Formats: sequence, C-alpha cells, structure tokens
Amino acid sequence: MDHIRILTTGRGIASRTVTNDDLSKVVDTSDDWIYPRTGIHSRQICGEGESVCTLAEEAVGKALEKGKTRFGIREEDIGCVVGATISGATATPSLSCLVQQALHLPEQIPVLDVNAACSGFVYALEVARGLLCANGKRYGLVFGAEALSRLLDWQDRTTCILFADGAGAALIERVPEKEVPYGSFLAARGGTEIVCGGVNTEDPHIRMDGKAVFRFAVTVIPVAAEGALSLAGVPADAISHVICHQANARILGHVMRKSTIPREKFFQNISTAGNTSAASIPSALAQMEEEGLLKEGDLLLLVGFGSGLTYAGMVIGYGRKEAEDEKAE
Ligand code: UT7
Repeated sequence: MDHIRILTTGRGIASRTVTNDDLSKVVDTSDDWIYPRTGIHSRQICGEGESVCTLAEEAVGKALEKGKTRFGIREEDIGCVVGATISGATATPSLSCLVQQALHLPEQIPVLDVNAACSGFVYALEVARGLLCANGKRYGLVFGAEALSRLLDWQDRTTCILFADGAGAALIERVPEKEVPYGSFLAARGGTEIVCGGVNTEDPHIRMDGKAVFRFAVTVIPVAAEGALSLAGVPADAISHVICHQANARILGHVMRKSTIPREKFFQNISTAGNTSAASIPSALAQMEEEGLLKEGDLLLLVGFGSGLTYAGMVIGYGRKEAEDEKAE
C-alpha cells in the first residue's frame, strides 16, 4: 500500500484571547492554580462571526493556497477531504462537506468527518491514505477543527480552564512506499473518562475525570509512539520533531522525561493554545511551518490521545526531499 507525506499546512486561529486571569473572574480559579498544573497561560476562543466552520475553512484554504504556490496543486487535483472534529456545527452535513462547498473542491471524491477526539487528526490522515490508495488520486486535504468553547460548561472549573478553539490542516500526497517511511498505529480502549453529552444524558457539556485521563495519557503515549516507529521501520533518532497532542504540559513533561528522544525535538504550544482536541496537532504543525521549524525531508512523529478513549501514533514525512536535493544540484 502506498504511503503519504505532508506537503503544506495551514491554521485558523480563533480571535478572542482568554487569559487565566479572565477565567478567574468567571469561576473560582487562578493563574497560580492553572499554570503549574496545565502549562496554560491563555487560550483562543471564537469571537464574533467565527465558528468551527470559519476556522476549518481558513486552515484548509491556507494549506491549499501554499500547495498552489509551492507545488502547482489545484482544487481539481484534490482526491479526498477528511476532517476530524467533535464539535462540528451540525450533525449533518459534515464539517468536511461544508469546507468542500466553501472552497469549491471537486464533487466526485470522498468527503467525510471522523470522530476520534484528540487522536482525530492522526486517524483522519490514515483514513485519507486508504481513500487515496483506493481511488488512485494523488492529493488529499486533512484537517482537525474544534470550537470546544461551545461544549464547555463555563461554571465547571475542572474543564473550562483546559479547552479551546482552533483549526489546522495538511495537504497530503500519496507516494510509493520506498519514497518515504510511514507508520500508523491506531488504537482505542472504550471508556467514558472523558464524555460529552450522549444518548442517555441531557448534559451536552464536556465532562472529565482528569486524574484518570492523566494516567491513561502517560501510559498510552509511549505505546503509540513506539508502535508507529516500529511500523515505519525507523529508529527514534531518525525523527526530526515530535508533535504530541497538546493536552497538558505536565503530561508532556512526564513523557519527555521517559523518552529516548531529546526533549528539544518535542514541540510545545500549550501555553498559548490550550487544548484544542483534534485541532491541536495540525495547528501545531502549521505554527511550526510558519516559524520555519519544518524542513523538506523531515520525519515527524505525531501522537494523539483522548476521548474514546483513543490513541494514535504516526511517523510521516514532511515536504518533498527531492525538491531540496534538486535545488542543491
Ligand atoms: O485531551 C485530554 C484532556 N484532558 C487532560 O489532559 C486532563 C489530564 N488531567 C489533568 O491535567 C489534571 O487532572 C487536571 C489539571 C485536570 C486537574 O489537576 P489535579 O491535580 O488532578 O486536580 P484535582 O482534580 O485532583 O483537584 C484538586 C483540587 C480539588 O479541590 P479539593 O477537592 O482538593 O478541595 C479541585 O476541586 O483542585 C480543585 N480544582 C481547582 N481549583 C482551582 C479543580 N479545578 C480547579 C481550578 N481552579 N480550575
């Protein structure tokens, strides 16, 4: 089966900045409590006229625009759109179909959302790979987008301090196996440690057993990372950057202490992004691209974990290495 790699990225940032001090005016909390336990100083949430749709459109639009400029890829070259979200504006149409309409993407391609919470973007990449292998098209658009502020109980200090809004996207390319390593390890352990509404409850808000989630996360992150490395057949030192779901700086700190991968390879933006669930990994990637941290030919390790309980690891390449090599010649 062919592999995939990421060619370009984009992100949509919600415009309203909410600091810990702002939250302390709404619930009984403080920066002194929140920052040491989560690493979060501030987060972005949707302002006037913004929604999960506008954020997703912005992120996917930017990834596509970069694909046009850098690689000459056009709308009609896109072979699938796979979005990851738990906070789509409507149960149907899917968020992906709304993005397809807004960006005038082709009609005769698969377009769908996946729900794997904070692992959603990694799941969506693997789904997109399967679709591209099946329909023979070369390029796909994959995104994670959330407006979690809509699902929060703003009186619940155990959740409203953590979650935020945002979107990130990647333009991917299907490539022959030998061209670039790829490994995808997807898993789930059915559980209700994080829940958001449901058929048997009137409560539409996100609720969470924070300690249980913490224990789950530190257990499964190494499993997902090692699973992906082993399936890709590459050693840990081949990895250029590790992008973990930005849930909590303490979880990341714990993982970094135990990992053989040097901590400077772990990207972190939790302090200003908060936890944006499915949007957290792709928007971190887009931020890295904007900051010039990603180089053509980099090998990335993505790790997601969250509600479901789902977890996922992926080794995936960034950019076209040969493009760099050609330039050097
Ligand atoms: O995508 C996955 C998303 N989820 C996560 O990543 C969550 C992982 N879990 C965590 O990060 C931590 O469990 C939290 C940061 C959520 C909570 O930290 P904790 O050290 O596990 O706190 P706790 O729930 O045990 O609460 C300790 C105390 C309690 O008071 P009492 O019972 O000791 O009097 C809470 O009521 O802290 C209180 N508390 C707060 N106080 C001030 C809980 N939330 C707050 C708050 N401000 N926001």
